[in-house]
Amino acid sequence: MSTLLLGVSGSIAAYRACDIARELIHAGHTVRVVMTRSATRLVSPDTFAALTGNPVVVDVFDEPEPGQIAHIRLAQEADLVLIAPATAHTIARLALGLADDMLTTIALATRAPILIAPAMNPAMWSHPATQAHVQSLRARGVVFIEPTYGVMACGDEGWGKIADTPVIVQAVQQRLQQAQDLKGVHVLITAGPTYEPIDPVRFIGNRSSGKMGYAIAEAALAHGAEVTLITGPTSLTPPAGAKVVRVQTAQQMFDAVQAAFDACDVFIAAAAVADYRPERPLPHKRKRNSQHWTLRLVANPDILGTVAQRKGNRIVVGFAAETDKALQHAQEKLKRKGLDLIAVNNVLEPGSGFEMDTNRLTLIYADGRIEPLPLMSKRECANRVIQAAREILARRS
Ligand code: CTP
Repeated sequence: MSTLLLGVSGSIAAYRACDIARELIHAGHTVRVVMTRSATRLVSPDTFAALTGNPVVVDVFDEPEPGQIAHIRLAQEADLVLIAPATAHTIARLALGLADDMLTTIALATRAPILIAPAMNPAMWSHPATQAHVQSLRARGVVFIEPTYGVMACGDEGWGKIADTPVIVQAVQQRLQQAQDLKGVHVLITAGPTYEPIDPVRFIGNRSSGKMGYAIAEAALAHGAEVTLITGPTSLTPPAGAKVVRVQTAQQMFDAVQAAFDACDVFIAAAAVADYRPERPLPHKRKRNSQHWTLRLVANPDILGTVAQRKGNRIVVGFAAETDKALQHAQEKLKRKGLDLIAVNNVLEPGSGFEMDTNRLTLIYADGRIEPLPLMSKRECANRVIQAAREILARRS
């Protein structure tokens, strides 16, 4: 089955990690344990070594196998990293990207999904510092298995008890399954704005940040897909594992999509492509004067509309950012461009649109189904779009 890395940090709940390790082994997985130094004061590494049949590492300089750099090997071999229990301190170190012990070093070096089951005093869990760290980890795709309500070892009552073992094991199984469900599927994504040059220093652009398209690339990777991201100019860092093609203009984006389209199974057009470009960009910077300046614009190619005409068996997904009659315009666009799915939002609504971290999407399917989604993070929106594309793909095969 899978190779799981179980990180144990220094909470009283560390003893629960023994049970979690045992259940994960019963489910057929190989479990390797890495402990923080304080966790070793609560449970002996020998206990985990006996339970898992594998050596336990604590120190960055622990090298159980000669000739191998343990933290890199463990990070690369893990299919999933589960940190249970995770203390407030460990969560803070993970959020900051510190690498000051074996557990945090592996967490930084791994490309595997990370799940965290926190366990701490309720005041520590609800503290704004902890919650800010949780948010920043969530924004990077880390999944939290929420703590439950109860009486703590210290006598305090509230939210902070580590989740029950079956809940943790189920979360691990679900995440492993998700990581496989787009294996072998190639997802092509466009993201960001395009810049259409007026002269060497000026351009026509738009306010797209690229966040939606980048979040879709990340979500597709999290489901195990092979991802090609064709991106206009943005300040974002592309997700690790995606093949990235950087472009500036709509014409360049069109050429890049045309070149990559045949090899894809799913095409998701999240870019805000400039519909028009200056007919003749000036070779030199235009000097200021008091005269009127008229720019003549010509239409750019409709990237999505063009490739959708030769879609064959591919799933083709569009976005529609509207300011009025959103559903009506999107339904019309879905038909006109021959799409399988369109995700529409009203950019004038609070919480939706450009430069925001949230969005309120409505998914419209080719079969007429309309699925309004609540206001949610762009990451969550991206997940829903990927899930919808996966469902259409599954129904088709
Ligand atoms: N799109 C594209 N190429 C273009 C324009 C749009 O690939 N030149 C894609 C966008 O990425 C999006 C969808 O088409 O997925 C709809 O974009 P939108 O700008 O809303 O639609 P348009 O066809 O440009 O229609 P209009 O601007 O008139 O609303």
